Amino acid sequence: MEIQAIPGAIQASDADAIVVNLFEETQPGGATRAVDESLDGAIRDLIDGGDFTGKAGQVAVLYPRGAIPARRVLVVGLGQRDDFDADPADAVRRAAASAAQKARDLKARRVATILHGAGAGGLSVDAAAQATTEGTLLGLYDYRGQKTEEPPEELPQELELMIFRQPDVPAAQRGIDAGRVIARGVTITRDLVNLPPNLCTPIHMAQVATDVAADAGLRVEVLGREEMQALHMGALLGVAQGSDAPPRFIVLEHNAARAGELDTIVLAGKGVTFDTGGYSLKPKESMKGMKADMAGAAAVIGAMFAVGKLGLPLHVVGLAPAADNMINGHAYRPEEVVTASNGVTIEINSTDAEGRMLLADALVYAARFQPSAVVDVATLTGACVVALGRGVAAGLFSTDDRLRETLVAASAATAEKLWPMPLFPEYEKTLESQTADVRNSGDRYGGVGSSATFLKHFVDYPAWAHVDMAGMALEALDNPYAPGKGATGFGVRLLTEFVRQWGQN
Ligand code: BES
Ligand code: MN
Ligand code: ZN
Repeated sequence: MEIQAIPGAIQASDADAIVVNLFEETQPGGATRAVDESLDGAIRDLIDGGDFTGKAGQVAVLYPRGAIPARRVLVVGLGQRDDFDADPADAVRRAAASAAQKARDLKARRVATILHGAGAGGLSVDAAAQATTEGTLLGLYDYRGQKTEEPPEELPQELELMIFRQPDVPAAQRGIDAGRVIARGVTITRDLVNLPPNLCTPIHMAQVATDVAADAGLRVEVLGREEMQALHMGALLGVAQGSDAPPRFIVLEHNAARAGELDTIVLAGKGVTFDTGGYSLKPKESMKGMKADMAGAAAVIGAMFAVGKLGLPLHVVGLAPAADNMINGHAYRPEEVVTASNGVTIEINSTDAEGRMLLADALVYAARFQPSAVVDVATLTGACVVALGRGVAAGLFSTDDRLRETLVAASAATAEKLWPMPLFPEYEKTLESQTADVRNSGDRYGGVGSSATFLKHFVDYPAWAHVDMAGMALEALDNPYAPGKGATGFGVRLLTEFVRQWGQN
């Protein structure tokens, strides 16, 4: 879809549909009022008749019948003013998504919209344009997968952001450009997570990462089994040996050439391409959705795309360890002891605690970059979903206050929710092993804290944070710009915004 900022008044547009907005239980103001006046009060009639209240997500359609050049008018609800003010950017993303979906249903080819959230909404032109762009593109995401049926025509094809004040056009265009890059990063991630596990192998993930690197100007390196053996990545390799699909350790690097002069951040993501549980086999109901167990790695790849394209002024490294968790004659078993790349020995308590094994070697690898911050994202524990809910928030653990605060701020800016959780020393007890330095899972209780505490054994830098996004990869709760079923792309906007903010501190 093409998106451009165009100077002019919305009521003069001859698009197939124009989009204006309304706060709940208010009368039209600004551009919406101008359109209402051109329509001789048709929008007020809808409101007065009780047919349209401006509730968030509501979209009314009006036919101007020649009163203005546009063929249709869509009025999208912005919700209650107070709710809007609590998070204007997210309200705009939602409104833009709802309007875009309605325009698609109506088969509108060219759509013009006012800049939701600018002016009376309190957002800068830049931020409003970015949020409108993100909401539109993310709301129109449609995964076709391996359906052989001819895909429907992509509609709408054009979106024009009507900018009332000519001098605001460049700022609007900047917002559009940023929103487009970020939405593309999210789409890369959603596509990877939605792809079935027979196709989304570690090799495929490495291929996508390589394509992303070429497109976004990143350095890429892909380690195979032998290179991982040379680095003694016994934890990752232990998991991988149960599958015929060979593992890959993907390294993406933005601003590699300026590593010496810039601050370094490492982002690492769990890339389990399918989690059967291994010999600690999952019951069949729990295996559903485990194609999404590489969502952390996919989020890192999507975020690296955005970071590269936006040219953020930091040295950023993305690590995506990718492997299957399967069963065969070579598969690792409970009671085995393996050695991670930092020399720490791990007793396998459960082969289903495999994500932390991949992350262990990735967190050790991160140290070579002397990072000022390391953030990992992982669909790590069912316990986190039990604690925070499905599609509600990801758990956040951090060894550093500034890192935690920056992540929480990025979370607020993107509405990708994080909730801080503790790294209590008591969790260590549950990881004590008779045969090794640590065991890979704790007891029945506090599973989310013990998993984070396990990871800490592989961290050798002051600022580390862990995001447990187990409940967040699939099925967002009530969010028009994340599809009802399928991958959300959680983490891409969060990590990109985090990198941007870390660079400003
Ligand atoms: N991939 C799962 C966690 C998960 C559960 C992600 C539900 C998404 C939705 C992880 O590898 C796992 O199996 N965790 C175990 C940990 C246990 C063995 C310590 C779990 O949560 O039961
Ligand atoms: Mn598992
Ligand atoms: Zn897993």
